[in-house]
Amino acid sequence: MLLGPSNTTGKVDSAFIFIVVCCVILLAVVTISMVVFLIKYNRERHPRPERVKESVLLEVVWTVIPTILVIFMFYFGWVDFEYIRNPPKDALTVSVTARQWSWLFTYDNGRQNDVLNVPLGRPVKLLMTSVDVLHCLFIPAYRIKEDCVPGMTTHLWFTANEPGTYDIFCTEYCGVGHSHMRSQVVAMKPEDFRKWYSTAPGTTAAEAGPIILQAKGCLGCHSLDGSAKVGPTFKGLLGRKETVVQVGKDKEIIVDEAFIRQKILAPRSVAVKGFPEVMPLTPLTDEELKTIMTYLVTLK
Ligand code: CUA
Repeated sequence: MLLGPSNTTGKVDSAFIFIVVCCVILLAVVTISMVVFLIKYNRERHPRPERVKESVLLEVVWTVIPTILVIFMFYFGWVDFEYIRNPPKDALTVSVTARQWSWLFTYDNGRQNDVLNVPLGRPVKLLMTSVDVLHCLFIPAYRIKEDCVPGMTTHLWFTANEPGTYDIFCTEYCGVGHSHMRSQVVAMKPEDFRKWYSTAPGTTAAEAGPIILQAKGCLGCHSLDGSAKVGPTFKGLLGRKETVVQVGKDKEIIVDEAFIRQKILAPRSVAVKGFPEVMPLTPLTDEELKTIMTYLVTLK
């Protein structure tokens, strides 16, 4: 059994390698016999065609061997598929909400994050859904993927074996920000995970602001450092000159608190020129909205 960064990696790789090796051996047998026959029975050596008689033994051999191989392939595929589809009962459950264009991971104690922090050595079960369109969560290093479907809960599970950070991709085209819909699994030592899991997000706006923006997926489209993403950067937002399109007309404005509030509460009521009109409505509590507003105003 191969190993890897998760319990699922080796399972998938073993089945894959077994099938590839069988195919390569069969390809070699077929190709080599073809070349041998070409040379052995060419026209110069055999001006008259040979009379070929059937061989029951040969027929049985080339039927039975491939059948056994195919049964083995099915067996490996089935056993590992069953293993990968059935999470153990004691798994740590994390709810996954996919949306255009970010991932939200919610833990049992209410802790939210846009990165999937998991403890090493403990099975983790993901209960996944989408709030808008089809998405698909793929963790290449763990060899697992599953669709996130609106109105439906799908699942995945794995146990991280090696500490490290592994990519998460969305592999279902879900709109203009699809390629930005990335995240990571961070496999942590159990004591580090416990510490992170039980730490409350900060209490001041400067501490809590970025955590809420990250958890709610805002940072999927807006950066904090001035770099361009699907939407305008949050850096220096207040007092910035922007051209907005409202009721079909261009208008120059200076971004103020009222504008930010309007954009969050009714995202499609006004569009900023030069950016796709795709901002989703993000559910926020009054408390969260207040913290975000206080934080954005200070972000110079
Ligand atoms: Cu979400 Cu592609």
